Amino acid sequence: NMIYFNGEYVEDQITISPDDRGYQFGDGIYEVIRVYNGKLFTAKEHFERLLRSAEEIKIELKLTVADYIAICERLVKENQVETGNIYVQVTRGNAVRNHIFPESSEPVTFIYSYGSERPVQGMREGIKVITADDIRWLRCDIKSLNLLGNVLNKQKAHEAGAAEAIQIRDGIVTEGASSNAYIVKDGAIYTHPTDNLILNGITRQVIKQCAEENHIPFVEKTFGMDELLAADEVLMSSVSIEVTPVIQIDDRTFNVGPVTRQLQAAFEEKIS
Ligand code: PDD
Repeated sequence: NMIYFNGEYVEDQITISPDDRGYQFGDGIYEVIRVYNGKLFTAKEHFERLLRSAEEIKIELKLTVADYIAICERLVKENQVETGNIYVQVTRGNAVRNHIFPESSEPVTFIYSYGSERPVQGMREGIKVITADDIRWLRCDIKSLNLLGNVLNKQKAHEAGAAEAIQIRDGIVTEGASSNAYIVKDGAIYTHPTDNLILNGITRQVIKQCAEENHIPFVEKTFGMDELLAADEVLMSSVSIEVTPVIQIDDRTFNVGPVTRQLQAAFEEKIS
């Protein structure tokens, strides 16, 4: 498998230094991009978000959105990815361990691709989730490599036999451990506004567009646990799970509803 590593294309193996600040501090950012029918989906949006994440943590990227897209297209072609993912990671680089930024360090970048089928069962039948305290930091808008809060909640879900954790901060539903969360009430979709407490999901942006095109109100307003449990429909989204209905939250069950199905159909059109 061809991998892009710091300006070069290599086969299979790369060598990461023990001084990589990504390892020592989680001092870096990433993106996961979907490939459908051998083509990148919403790649521009993903790389614009990568550039924003970099700017927010003061990493100076050497490449433009167009450069990144060209690299990904080459990998998809060389590696013959039909349905799959691209993983992009950029760290602040290598330096002797010190919390303070190094005076001079080059970002360390790798990009690889791999095949990954669509999660058809979850999309069709729905998933079970748990609720969990959102224990993450206050800059969840940055797609940072620091994912411990997300990892701990995802593991908690896994141990409870659930697929995802809906995270709650100060009584407010923020998002999943690796996805955005939505409820449907009286025909309208509600989801947390894009502030510092959630990641502005690219799939969320696509869903917003699908909602608008289908005249479904898309309301970016916070809601609490009571509204979550009283919802007509609950759904979650990410590049990995697309538009996935939730059929159980803790002990409460839900049906897969018509708005979720309508969004799934609209999303399907966007990717084909
Ligand atoms: N996660 N919120 C969080 C915390 C996420 O980690 C993700 C994506 C999303 C959805 O964003 P998008 O629609 O752009 O995938 C929301 C990726 C898939 C991951 O960490 O693997």
